[in-house]
Amino acid sequence: MTDVTEWMLDPEVAYLNQGAFGALPKPVAMAAAELRNQMESNPSALLIRHLPRKLDRVRDQVSALLGGDPAGGVFVANATAGTATVIASLEPELSPGDELLTTDHRYGAVTAQFARSASRRGIKPVVAHVPLDVRTDDDVVAAIVERITPRTKLLVVDSIASLSGFVFPVEAIVAAAHERGVPVLVDAAHAPGQIDVDLARIGADFWVGNLHKWICSPRAAAYLHVAPRWRDTARPLSASHGYAEGFHEAFDWTGTFDPVTVLAVPAALGFWSTQGGWDEVRRRQRTIVDDGAKRVAAAFDTISPIEDRYRAAMRIIPLPVTLDAAAARQIETRLAEEFRIEVSLMPLHDRSWARVCGQIYNTPDDYDRLADALPRLLQTEQ
Ligand SMILES: Cc1ncc(COP(=O)(O)O)c(C=O)c1O
Repeated sequence: MTDVTEWMLDPEVAYLNQGAFGALPKPVAMAAAELRNQMESNPSALLIRHLPRKLDRVRDQVSALLGGDPAGGVFVANATAGTATVIASLEPELSPGDELLTTDHRYGAVTAQFARSASRRGIKPVVAHVPLDVRTDDDVVAAIVERITPRTKLLVVDSIASLSGFVFPVEAIVAAAHERGVPVLVDAAHAPGQIDVDLARIGADFWVGNLHKWICSPRAAAYLHVAPRWRDTARPLSASHGYAEGFHEAFDWTGTFDPVTVLAVPAALGFWSTQGGWDEVRRRQRTIVDDGAKRVAAAFDTISPIEDRYRAAMRIIPLPVTLDAAAARQIETRLAEEFRIEVSLMPLHDRSWARVCGQIYNTPDDYDRLADALPRLLQTEQ
């Protein structure tokens, strides 16, 4: 296993925020630089002649990793673009009073996208409460489906929530929503690499996952998977040359973009195979973050309410004070600038939390530094 010196990260920084934007292993950075050199030696050759075939190869590899159908897989700029693409594609069919349902773990971009559809089409955003200490899949499913009504036109559910790190039982949720005739978009920004994904089994109508967060491709790239019955409906946000020609064609060229982030994905997958493969990597991430989260929680004498079965490589620790967004951002900045610790502090369900991530470069010292610094900074807030 690598240590932090094999990553592009500053080794002086306790980097506990892998989930935010990913981080780049040096071999992947080198492969991306080589791809960029190749592209710059003749941009027209790559962008006009070779790109479709190269994208197809990466598409096949990512689809195989995620258990998806390559015919339904396209690359989008990031998860935000993926959820926006789906919601915008469905919008023409929506009428005032129709409902878009999500949970209170959702990412802020989805809130904004629902609000935009509310102002453009008069739809009603609906938010299901999923308690952090929920114990069974049935309870998670029940909390969501009890908010389904005859007007529900789409459910957007996280695979792994950004705010809570909660791993949703998406397969059961999709099945329950489908029984009630509701299509599902899975916001899986954090899933590729962090958990095992089998798109065929999940059966979602739409699923989008970032490749730069936990697969560690260069920033930013995401894979959007669309079930067959929606492939004529799902349209890219920007129409360009291939718009009328087919599903892949419409998404593969949406105007000039930097293809290196996608073309370097095979290098990122190759990096992980040198680390013992996904099962071993995930076991190690969880061991690191389990231990690390306990060290931070011990500083506050608290424990996470989330059941072990709903956790992966991101953990939240309840803080003893309630911080508004501005105060949380200020403490994050002080942790970064005075203590060289990168971590996320956030409000959720009427409390404030620290979210720590576990990546194979993290050491117990990274978490100990947070356990030492954060209580001191929070005291100055009281
Ligand atoms: C659940 C979730 N969805 C969407 C996003 C947005 O990802 P991006 O900024 O790459 O579009 C994030 C980012 O952290 C996220 O956690």
